[in-house]
Amino acid sequence: GKSNFVRIVEVGPRDGLQNESRPIPPPIKAELINKLGQAGLRNIEAGSFVSPKWVPQLAGTAEVLSLIDPIPNTHLSVLVPNSKGLDEVFRVLSASVSPDSTAKPPPPVTEVAIFTAATDAFSRANTNVSVSESLTRLEPVARAALAKGLRVRGYVSVIVTCPYSGRVDPRRVRDVSRELIQMGCYEVSLGDTTGTGTPASVRTVLEEVCKEIDPSRLAGHFHDTNGTALANIFTALDMGLRSFDASVGGLGGCPYSPGATGNVATEDVVYALAGESFYGDVGEPHSAPSPISLSVPSPKWDFGPISLPLLAETGAWISETLGRENTSRAGRAYLAR
Ligand code: HMG
Ligand code: MG
Repeated sequence: GKSNFVRIVEVGPRDGLQNESRPIPPPIKAELINKLGQAGLRNIEAGSFVSPKWVPQLAGTAEVLSLIDPIPNTHLSVLVPNSKGLDEVFRVLSASVSPDSTAKPPPPVTEVAIFTAATDAFSRANTNVSVSESLTRLEPVARAALAKGLRVRGYVSVIVTCPYSGRVDPRRVRDVSRELIQMGCYEVSLGDTTGTGTPASVRTVLEEVCKEIDPSRLAGHFHDTNGTALANIFTALDMGLRSFDASVGGLGGCPYSPGATGNVATEDVVYALAGESFYGDVGEPHSAPSPISLSVPSPKWDFGPISLPLLAETGAWISETLGRENTSRAGRAYLAR
């Protein structure tokens, strides 16, 4: 049967910040991650190790990781495009296990995310190679990460439309998702990168992908360009998906998807799920559920529920800090009440 446990993967520090043009100091990024942890999020994509020539904004991820506070029971992940990126992850992890007892505990990176697309045109724009070349490049990355005990998550971009080649064939999404699962990804996050998806088009894609992959291995990653992201999440919930990416304050976009806006705001997802009696994120895909809280939690938040008040404050704080609009409706409503 369908579980009522929903996992939220916070992608604000990565997807959210990668699209900002002005430099953001690493301490601000680390503070964002710390605040997200304090708000009770248990899966946080902290940054990426990609080419700084391609995405200059995320060049400081190693420094960011060195500045964050340890967050108990939390999966921190980073996005990597190739083995060079994975080597950076290994370097960060080994540098942090210094025998010096005064050293900070290691940044708890437990997961890497690898990414490809459903169209060659997007894959080339984003990573300079075709989809099949990208899969060939990612296979040894996944294998090496798994061998070191890291979890591996896969992304497929442009599941509905591609900014360069138009409408996408759902069978391509299915085939690429299957390849990522076969590489050892515990989950594939399906990206509506452009945010053009609607409940009807998302349902069509998911029906095709679910012919081969159990919905418990799929996540939804919906950009909210046209205001349909939350509706798409509820369509996906109806089809059995229980894992969703979201970005505090609705931050984000992809530098290679012109005009696309941020992900669905985490505050909005938390607000909407609480009303549906779904359960919030506690870290592991299959751990015991814990209800989403709409009240301020006690300072001891070990394995505690997600706090909408703390999330709303975090969304307002990062928006203000970046000088951008806070696009979370639920966050703004909470703060204006
Ligand atoms: P390339 O130019 O073909 O590769 O880029 P290259 O191997 O020739 O490398 C170019 C330069 O980058 C070299 O430096 C490399 O050393 C360096 P140079 O010798 O010229 O001084 N380099 C790196 N540096 C640091 N870390 C690395 C790394 N790799 C190479 N890992 C490459 C190919 C894949 C590297 C490039 O295209 C790239 O980095 N792309 C990433 C683009 C990106 O980050 N996009 C946003 C994330 S995906 C997304 O947002 C979608 C998602 O949210 C889901 C959705 O919404 O759909 C996940
Ligand atoms: Mg994205």
